[in-house]
Amino acid sequence: MSKIPLIMDVDTGSDDAVALILAHLSGQYDLLGVTTVFGNAGVEETTRHTLQTLELLRSPVPVYSGCHEPLARRLYDEGNPIGPGENRRVAADGSAIGFHEVFDLPRPQQKPEEKNAITFLIETLRTAPQPVTIIATGALTNLACAWLLAPEAFANIDRLIIMGGGIALSNKTAAAEGNFFRDPEAARMILECGADLTLLTLDATHSAALNRADLERIRAIGSPLSDFTVHVAETRMAAYRELQPLNGELAVLHDPACVLFCLNKNLAAQSRRYRATVSIDHGETAGALIADPRAAAYDQGNLLAVTQIDKDRFLSDLISLLKKAP
Ligand code: RIB
Ligand code: CA
Repeated sequence: MSKIPLIMDVDTGSDDAVALILAHLSGQYDLLGVTTVFGNAGVEETTRHTLQTLELLRSPVPVYSGCHEPLARRLYDEGNPIGPGENRRVAADGSAIGFHEVFDLPRPQQKPEEKNAITFLIETLRTAPQPVTIIATGALTNLACAWLLAPEAFANIDRLIIMGGGIALSNKTAAAEGNFFRDPEAARMILECGADLTLLTLDATHSAALNRADLERIRAIGSPLSDFTVHVAETRMAAYRELQPLNGELAVLHDPACVLFCLNKNLAAQSRRYRATVSIDHGETAGALIADPRAAAYDQGNLLAVTQIDKDRFLSDLISLLKKAP
């Protein structure tokens, strides 16, 4: 079977790193390049983390650094891309509690390419002999810039699979999910760009939250990559406990769901088409997904939103891919 030509647009990022690992291990993607964007950290850090993850995989895939701030807004907290403070806190003992830590991995040997992410995206879409799939797991700023400069190139996108938004859930503010909140104008532009679009919503990713027993199954694989995945999940579990309590000791790994769904749409236990956009308000609803479920009544909507994942399949796919690693 021929491989899926793929670009990943990431803000690595704990869960982005696991998504990169799974894409690599699957052997089913022809990863043409990875583009980086600000988000879980500044773009220098998300780029370094991306290079570190690829070096962990001994993957020569090129990395293209992208946007360092949103299209039309200021970064938060005087240049901090993370956003409102509830998502990171310093504990009483001085340690940091957060969903994404600085990676404890060797300094990368490779540098990002000279070419920037936007140029790479446009040139690749214009010249690729087969339509390209894009998995986007950060703010959609790079894609929006590419769209502004070369909308015709988007005709060569096969599928655009995005981790973003929530129907009944939010995580960055009371109304918004993080990737959409960080650049609402970009998210709105891309949701309305006409590509074949699937959203892996928070509702979906939370439905596949991992518990302690799941982590023990992953730990039992006993490889550097399974250990790294468990470490990421445990960091996130601690962050959820303190910052965003879930119903039990759980860790959500959002971004890997895009990689697994792209390989097998049966990962989705529930999905439906919506006519959807993103709020570009500057108030409490900034970045919120506005999804009108009446799409089927008057048209077919502009995207498919996955709202529930088959958790058993998610875990077994994750484990079987991690088992492929030496
Ligand atoms: O809201 C979750 C998303 O925000 C994930 O992609 C995470 O990595 C962060 O980018
Ligand atoms: Ca991400």
